Amino acid sequence: MAKIIGGVGTSHIPAIGGAIHKGLQNEPYWKPFFGGFPPIHDWLATARPDVVVMFYNDHGLNFFLDKMPTFAVGAAAQYVSADEGWGIPTQPPVQGCPDLSWQLINTLVEREFDIVSCQEMLIDHACTLPLKLLWPQSGDDWPVRIVPVCINTVQFPLPKASRVYALGKAVGEAVAAWGSDQRVLMVASGGLSHQLDGTRAGHINKGFDLQFMDSLLTNPEWATQFSIHELVEKTGTQGIELLMWLAMRGSLTAAGPSVRKVHSNYHIPISNTATAVMALEV
Ligand code: DHB
Ligand code: FE
Repeated sequence: MAKIIGGVGTSHIPAIGGAIHKGLQNEPYWKPFFGGFPPIHDWLATARPDVVVMFYNDHGLNFFLDKMPTFAVGAAAQYVSADEGWGIPTQPPVQGCPDLSWQLINTLVEREFDIVSCQEMLIDHACTLPLKLLWPQSGDDWPVRIVPVCINTVQFPLPKASRVYALGKAVGEAVAAWGSDQRVLMVASGGLSHQLDGTRAGHINKGFDLQFMDSLLTNPEWATQFSIHELVEKTGTQGIELLMWLAMRGSLTAAGPSVRKVHSNYHIPISNTATAVMALEV
């Protein structure tokens, strides 16, 4: 059977892509963010994942307001990154893992999550930047294949936190039941608190963010007590991307009741966003 090795949550601000492109990682503005990754690189070198299940939110590249699935699972052999208007360089295509994709799709539909399956799927910064942050040395060949799991955070109504956590659990159980010797890393892309638009643009909530990160270790369902509107109020219109972290944490329950924190880092702000990275081992 496949082995879930753990999970990583990370912010995905497009400006990170520009900083990587320009080699600014050690500049004073960027170092407090990029400095959070080396201990996670060391862990990944030992944990050696083959496949990443990427919980992420598309920002209008593959899905737009005309067609907006609540949950979508990629089932492509390859995913191409495209220019979404942030001015960051595109990344090399990422190989998919259709066998695991269909394991997820079949299991999720059986478990009454009526997802959209995507045999073609463009991936945006939310999918590519976590890969670049976790494997900065990669050239044209990524060391992992991916299965993207897209969760709508763009157009209301959004799925409830409890529903997203349950989706994550079902994804984890599907991975654990996959007849394969592959090692699988669950990644959450997004957050933490940020609001890019409106009168609250720049809203950041450090107290809530730190409590949320801590809850993933001690009481992972804590955030499911809040409605989507309460979460938006606390974390900002885009801070709702914390749903990805909840899905990732839910997926780890398939590997056991508790997790060990490998490393975490929190830094305010990069662009308009409270940045965080956290690696959990099962
Ligand atoms: C920013 C953050 C995001 O999560 C995103 O998708 C786009 C921009 C930002 O802070 O600039
Ligand atoms: Fe985002």
